[in-house]
Amino acid sequence: MSQHIRVCDVDVLEAESILRFDHGDDTYAIYHGPDGQFYATDGYCTHEAAHLSDGIVDGFEIECPLHFGMFDYRTGTPTLAPACVKLKTYPVAIKEGAVFILIE
Ligand code: FES
Repeated sequence: MSQHIRVCDVDVLEAESILRFDHGDDTYAIYHGPDGQFYATDGYCTHEAAHLSDGIVDGFEIECPLHFGMFDYRTGTPTLAPACVKLKTYPVAIKEGAVFILIE
């Protein structure tokens, strides 16, 4: 069953920044893009499971802190090796000044 999970207030995340969000046994990465929209992906890099929240956001890309692979966090598509496996992405909703992600 899908559910909306509250992550944080909208104003916690500055533009072009990233936040780690843990829920249950899972870790997510929440992004505030340069377009003002919010995005969510799995929190671990698909290459060797580094925390993407320790990486650097550059426009719509996240650079992994371990081997500097990159992904487009809007789609999860890898954009620079050694990242080669797509990141899972999640729908994001804004309600009453807060960021929510839709997860199973
Ligand atoms: S762990 Fe992310 S690129 Fe290697």
